[in-house]
Amino acid sequence: MPVRIAPSILSADFARLGDEIATCVAGGADMIHVDVMDGRFVPNLTYGAKVIETVRRLTTLPIDVHLMVVEPERFLDDFAAAGATTLTVHTEAAPHLDRQVGRIKELGCLAGAVLNPATPLAAVEEVAADLDLLLVMTVNPGFGGQKFIEYTVDKIARARQLLAATRSRAMLEVDGGINRDTIVRCWRAGADTFVAGNAVFAAEDPQAEIGVLRSLCTE
Ligand code: DX5
Ligand code: ZN
Repeated sequence: MPVRIAPSILSADFARLGDEIATCVAGGADMIHVDVMDGRFVPNLTYGAKVIETVRRLTTLPIDVHLMVVEPERFLDDFAAAGATTLTVHTEAAPHLDRQVGRIKELGCLAGAVLNPATPLAAVEEVAADLDLLLVMTVNPGFGGQKFIEYTVDKIARARQLLAATRSRAMLEVDGGINRDTIVRCWRAGADTFVAGNAVFAAEDPQAEIGVLRSLCTE
């Protein structure tokens, strides 16, 4: 199974965003994870289409946009136009998930759905086959640097089973508290795509850390 590492620029130094992204590229990152927060779906507020546009000019890597916003359908067109590769909407904020998945694909992007830790996997069961990415949150979304929630490991394993049962080719991504220790459990449970904010950007050598995280996902 391929391993994809997606550094989250939430933990990057924005005064040096160009350098931080260049470091990710040099370290072999597979995509750049961009956390959009609206201060409503989650308590924190971050950035919007303008920053995605900036990242798009800084790298040719895929841009993995995680939309932590209410009514995500209002922003899909702008984020697609800004250069997003994947648009991932929270099931809790998207009652018409089937429609949003369809719209994201119409816009030429990959379609992702994301589950909060407390949201049952059943929320994506019906659309699993249509997804390009399924994100299982391993912390409560809103902030970088939080502690990994252990019970999500079992959910990752069940998510892998669901993707197999529905013949879905979706990437299975995890996000929150991923580091040298937790990545191994997530990989063994069936995740193949790993968001890492603090683990990469707070590392002594961020460029090398991407390779270290990847190397821990073996057998
Ligand atoms: C949290 C965000 C994450 C965050 C992860 O709400 O979705 O992408 O950047 O940060 P770490 O890896 O530090 O937990
Ligand atoms: Zn995220």
